[in-house]
Amino acid sequence: MNAFDPAVFHCPGFFIKAAGAPFERAGAAALRRRVFVEEQKIFEHHDRDAIDDVATCLVALSTYAHEADEVVGTVRIHEAEPGLWWGSRLAVDSRFRNVGRLGQQLIRLAVSTANGRGCDRFLAHVQMQNVPLFEKLAWAVEDEVVIHGVPHALMCADLASYPPFADPESGWLSLTRTGRGRAIPVSLPACHEVPALLPPLEQIHRGAA
Ligand SMILES: CC(C)(COP(=O)(O)OP(=O)(O)OC[C@H]1O[C@@H](n2cnc3c(N)ncnc32)[C@H](O)[C@@H]1OP(=O)(O)O)[C@@H](O)C(=O)NCCC(=O)NCCS
Repeated sequence: MNAFDPAVFHCPGFFIKAAGAPFERAGAAALRRRVFVEEQKIFEHHDRDAIDDVATCLVALSTYAHEADEVVGTVRIHEAEPGLWWGSRLAVDSRFRNVGRLGQQLIRLAVSTANGRGCDRFLAHVQMQNVPLFEKLAWAVEDEVVIHGVPHALMCADLASYPPFADPESGWLSLTRTGRGRAIPVSLPACHEVPALLPPLEQIHRGAA
């Protein structure tokens, strides 16, 4: 918590994991809607498709008092044919971009999870503005295509850079980088108001004397 402004919260860490609980799946769906329908306007009403029926949904969860709080990032992976995996619908909540390398960590969990499940080749259609980010993470451009009216690069991950990860259900806890974390305004929970209801300290001390 910011000592000077209690309305500004620095999230100390994020869980990066496969979605399990209903709130994680619902949060991922809501985040995708915010990003791909409302923000990017790629879809008119919703971005769900048949791949959601077979895909594994991965999420980044913010934390509050050491507990998972909110879905702030997501991506999905699926095996289209034996050995061939795809990643899609990568999205990080706009308040949490460039905060905790959530996009990069979701990509890492996506490819390493697939690698742990027998992936031979991992592909994604990447929006052009994100190509440098993927190249930095050992992906290579193979082609250029237009999908839903938006130019994309077909990119392939270098699997050697993504060791197999066997336990996506547990995932990992990622601590926010010091000096990089951005202040995130939050509406304070009710418990933060309790001290204001207590009498001032001097009054308590006077009463005890
Ligand atoms: C793309 C997206 C998922 C990235 O999420 P994020 O959590 O902000 O990403 P990260 O913090 O992990 O990585 C950002 C990094 O990429 C770099 N980066 C971002 N855009 C870049 C660009 N155009 N060129 C070069 N580097 C870029 C940043 O400098 C940062 O690098 P650093 O951590 O080494 O300083 C997020 O911006 C998003 O949800 N965008 C809207 C939806 C979208 O475009 N989805 C992807 C469809 S392919």
